[in-house]
Amino acid sequence: MIKRNTMDNIRPAYVIICLLYSCSALQPNFVLLFADDLGFGDLGCYGHPSSLTPNLDRLAAGGLRFTDFYCTSPVCSPSRASLLTGRYQTRSGIYPGVLYPGSRGGLPLNETTIAEVLKPVGYATAAMGKWHLGLGANGTFLPTRQGFDQYLGIPYSHDMGPCHNLTCFPPDVKCFGTCDVGTVTVPLMHNENIKQQPADFLNLEGAYRDFATNFINTAAKNKQPFFLYYPSHHTHYPQYAGKEAAGRSLRGPFGDALLELDSTIGNLMITLEKTGVINNTLVLFTSDNGPELMRMSRGGNSGPLKCGKGTTYEGGMREPAIAHWAGTIRPGVTHEMASTLDILPTIAALAGAPLPPVMLDGFDMTDVLLSRGNSKREAMMFYPIDPNEAHGLFALRLGKYKAHFYTRGASHSGTTPDQDCPVYAVLKAHDPPLIFDLEADPSEHYPLPLEERPDIQTVLERIMKVKAQFEASMVFGQSQLEKGTDPNLAPCCNPECTPKPGCCHC
Ligand SMILES: *[C@@H]1O[C@H](CO)[C@@H](O)[C@H](O)[C@H]1NC(C)=O
Ligand SMILES: *[C@@H]1O[C@H](CO)[C@@H](O)[C@H](O)[C@H]1NC(C)=O
Ligand SMILES: *[C@@H]1O[C@H](CO)[C@@H](O)[C@H](O)[C@H]1NC(C)=O
Repeated sequence: MIKRNTMDNIRPAYVIICLLYSCSALQPNFVLLFADDLGFGDLGCYGHPSSLTPNLDRLAAGGLRFTDFYCTSPVCSPSRASLLTGRYQTRSGIYPGVLYPGSRGGLPLNETTIAEVLKPVGYATAAMGKWHLGLGANGTFLPTRQGFDQYLGIPYSHDMGPCHNLTCFPPDVKCFGTCDVGTVTVPLMHNENIKQQPADFLNLEGAYRDFATNFINTAAKNKQPFFLYYPSHHTHYPQYAGKEAAGRSLRGPFGDALLELDSTIGNLMITLEKTGVINNTLVLFTSDNGPELMRMSRGGNSGPLKCGKGTTYEGGMREPAIAHWAGTIRPGVTHEMASTLDILPTIAALAGAPLPPVMLDGFDMTDVLLSRGNSKREAMMFYPIDPNEAHGLFALRLGKYKAHFYTRGASHSGTTPDQDCPVYAVLKAHDPPLIFDLEADPSEHYPLPLEERPDIQTVLERIMKVKAQFEASMVFGQSQLEKGTDPNLAPCCNPECTPKPGCCHC
């Protein structure tokens, strides 16, 4: 039996379109690149003076660079849930915090991912890199159960295990940091099987490069449109880099990790060119949340933005973002507001795929990409790491104004000189809210004086109306994190071995 059923469930409209046109010429390919803990100020093309990101800088120079692009959470798993579903994480239940190796929960299977939107209209789909949307019993929540034909990667963050091979091997390579102990070493998974445990991080980028090259070559040869999702481990702590990048940036371990990610992106672009699909491929790049400032000079950088990871200030959730589509997207910079939430509806529109029949929080941003019109997004909602219905939104941006109803520092943003960022800046309610003009004051330094500004009072009334409408539409999904963890669910290449977790080593 030939196992190739990706075209089995195509829809009638698609068949008609395919009879009228050539489908692969009509449907663009999508490459979605998602960096980890990368801040607004980390890329060369966003002004970092010592980062070495020639390929991302080239992508930005030949594409559209966003200045006002947001993820939906200042931490990893919830942000990824929103990216792949076009819905705030509160709807899918990916809160509070992030998933762990033994988590019982994961992105619910009845949520529709971008991959599941694209498969019925004929796309080949693959994911490689850091999944972090759950593993569960027998791989219940892995990418292969969420619409991806293939997966190569690490199912969660690479500090969620004793990553000895990062910190002391080989001795001449600069790697830094300590990781979790008392759990299994970090596995490399191929589809639903453990391929290596512990994963060989210093050669991981090469494995991803080969996987991506194979995937793109095969799809191009079959003239099948494709979707490749690459959420990278770089530049999350602890930073590492293989031989070719270690020690090569001016910026130290973070810079080296970023350089290695940049090189993989360069290789991907070369593969798209070589296979002749570059002019029919939309490449999107952004990041899951702001920089982990607690790592000090080994963490990322939020540039002019306030605080970083873990907070609902701009530094926690405004991200670098680039859209590249040779010959279709006009190079430039856009100040239109957009979000990871908008990627699913945009991809669906460009692929001619129907939207999932659920409450979506994203907007089709094709007009922005093609310089045809303004963003349909007027507002962005900011939930903390641990959202709940009692507190609701911590902040809301409407147009150029952002109102903070609550502020709080975070351990992830510790060690910065700004006293609002670290964890000891405890929860503070603001009534009336603090309001900032993000165009005049992107750093959120100077709250607008409400009592002296009747125009800002009018703005606040609009903000409160949008907030009330949004919160009335929000149905919190059952928390997947509150289902807790079970050490037996942590991935083990040698499931029957004892004593665990140490024996999970193959
Ligand atoms: C998924 O199932 C859960 C549990 O039945 C339900 O509460 C939720 O609304 C469903 N989500 C979607 C997107 O259908
Ligand atoms: C996992 O799969 C195995 C083999 O099919 C089965 O015996 C086991 O009960 C499953 N475990 C869970 C927790 O579902
Ligand atoms: C892409 O389009 C450009 C400009 O039209 C053209 O020069 C180039 O050859 C095209 N590349 C491929 C691989 O088709």
